[in-house]
Amino acid sequence: MPTLSYLSPAQFAHWRRHGYLVLERFASPEACDQLAARAAQLSAELAHERDQAVFSTTEQEHNSNAYFLSSGDKIRIFMEETDQKVVNKLGHALHNQDPVFRAFSYQENLFKVAADIGFSAPEIIQSMYIFKHPRVGGEVSAHQDSSFLYTEPRSCVGFWFAIEDATVENACLWVLPAGQHEVLRTRFVRDGHGGVAFRELDARPLPTEGYVPVEVPKGSLVIFHGNLPHYSEVNWSPRPRQAFTLHFIERDAVYPAENWLQRGE
Ligand code: FE2
Repeated sequence: MPTLSYLSPAQFAHWRRHGYLVLERFASPEACDQLAARAAQLSAELAHERDQAVFSTTEQEHNSNAYFLSSGDKIRIFMEETDQKVVNKLGHALHNQDPVFRAFSYQENLFKVAADIGFSAPEIIQSMYIFKHPRVGGEVSAHQDSSFLYTEPRSCVGFWFAIEDATVENACLWVLPAGQHEVLRTRFVRDGHGGVAFRELDARPLPTEGYVPVEVPKGSLVIFHGNLPHYSEVNWSPRPRQAFTLHFIERDAVYPAENWLQRGE
C-alpha cells in the first residue's frame, strides 16, 4: 500500500476493490451553496450569449457543434434536449475560468486524494456543473468517462460532488462495482468534418445488471475510475439534484488531438 495523505487504508482498499469511493461530506454545506449560487449567476449571464451563438443563423446544427467543440477552455451553457429553456449543464473549464470554481477545484485536499489513488502529476482536464432540474433533468445512459477523456495510457478519474443530497428519488449516480475492470468500449472523437462520433473499441455492450445507487448527503465526493460504467436516470422528483464534476488525467499521459475536448490553441 502507498503512503496515504488523506484516505484511510480502508478507503483506499475500497477504491482498489470496487473502482469507486464515497467520501461523505468532503465539502462543507457552505461551499456547496457558494457553488450553487455562482452556477445560477453564470447561467443567467450565459443564456443570452448562447442564444446568439447557436440560434442566430439558420446553420443551427453546425453552430451547436462548434459551440460544444470549442468549450474545452471556456465556460459554456448547454440545455436539456427535451426542453431548450432548461439548463442541463455548464462546462467545460469552470475550474480555470471562474474564481469561485477555481478555488474549489484546486483545494489541497483534492490533490491529496488524487495522489493517494496513484496520480503522480494530476491535472484537471474538465469541469461540469450539472443541474438535473426537477421533473426535467435528463437521463444519462450507462457510459465510461474514459470514452470522453481518453489518454494513453488510460488515466481518467471522475470526481463528482453532490451539491445537495442525492438519492434514488432525485436521480443519484448508479455505478457498477468493480467496473474498473471493464475494457473501454468507445472513444468520443472529432470526426474531421466539424462534428463528433463514437469510435468503437470493443463491440460488447456494457453490462445492464449489477449497478448500485450511490445515495450521498450534500457535500459528498464520489470518485470513480474512468472505465467504471455508471449512469443516472431522469429526475422525476420535485427536488433538483445538482452536482459539480471534475475529471483528472495524468499530465504526462498522451492526450490525442482527436479527442472531442481540446483546450484551444
Ligand atoms: Fe460520466
